[in-house]
Amino acid sequence: MLEVVRSIEEMQEKASAVRAAGKQVGAVPTMGALHEGHLSLITLCRRHADVVVTTLFVNPTQFGVGEDFDRYPRDLERDTRRAAEAGTDFLFVPGRAMMYPAEYVTYVNVEKLTDGLEGRSRPGHFRGVTTVLAKLFHIVQPHVAVFGQKDAQQVAVIRRMVRDLNFDVRVVIAPIVREPDGLAMSSRNVFLTEQQRAEAPVLYRSLRVAEDLIRGGERRSAVLIERMREMITARSSGAIDYISIADEENLEELPAISEGSGVLVSLAVLFGTTRLIDNIVVRS
Ligand code: PAJ
Repeated sequence: MLEVVRSIEEMQEKASAVRAAGKQVGAVPTMGALHEGHLSLITLCRRHADVVVTTLFVNPTQFGVGEDFDRYPRDLERDTRRAAEAGTDFLFVPGRAMMYPAEYVTYVNVEKLTDGLEGRSRPGHFRGVTTVLAKLFHIVQPHVAVFGQKDAQQVAVIRRMVRDLNFDVRVVIAPIVREPDGLAMSSRNVFLTEQQRAEAPVLYRSLRVAEDLIRGGERRSAVLIERMREMITARSSGAIDYISIADEENLEELPAISEGSGVLVSLAVLFGTTRLIDNIVVRS
């Protein structure tokens, strides 16, 4: 049976009790509007923990001015049902004023790794992500926390925060869950028009083309990026924010791909006002 917890103190007490009983606590942080991607994280978390805490909080500090905080999809009733079906024990739903009271002034910032990619287009975004996760880790006290590869830079940033600040949390990463036509599942896909939705799978197809070219021996990032750019602009109305070929761990742009390293091919494309991201990791 899923239990909804709305107070920070109550969540801390319940988590402490579970830990005291010698059980493993797992956390799945989300902003709600749960889809199959989120549910796969909950399922994976169940395999690593005795008690699964799914957190649901549309975190205002990670949205920039003019971003979609106000229109971000919210449906608590449906989320509660889906979280329960996937195996959540506690659904933690804190209120905004509880997480960020008027006098709030403390932030966690991971440097360097947050300069490029999403960080460049969304200044302050990762500061909001790491701040809320530091808070959620202190509240839920998880032994293990599960995140999705969908947000590849977020994964690298969280891993670094956990290491740098010595959080006693094991970070587990789940693969990207996709629609049958390849589009990565996202809470933002509901904003796409029918036409944009029909075009959007070109993003994943372009990533697969890059992967094939790398496996076929292409090492020049500029050539790969140009091929992807051509494909996306020819077959969709999407406006490319960035296409990047970077080191999987330190996220530094790679002018050329070297053998043996994990290469993160990632992109962000705007369909109207809806910004979609996707990525693929190629180990050559
Ligand atoms: P949100 O966008 O709700 O995503 C919650 C988690 O689900 C993240 O770890 C994300 O990578 C994962 N996820 C989203 N779509 C996925 C997909 N198609 N396949 C696999 N996993 C997917 O990411 C956030 O929220 C926030 O930044 C958060 C970490 C909760 C901090 O506020």
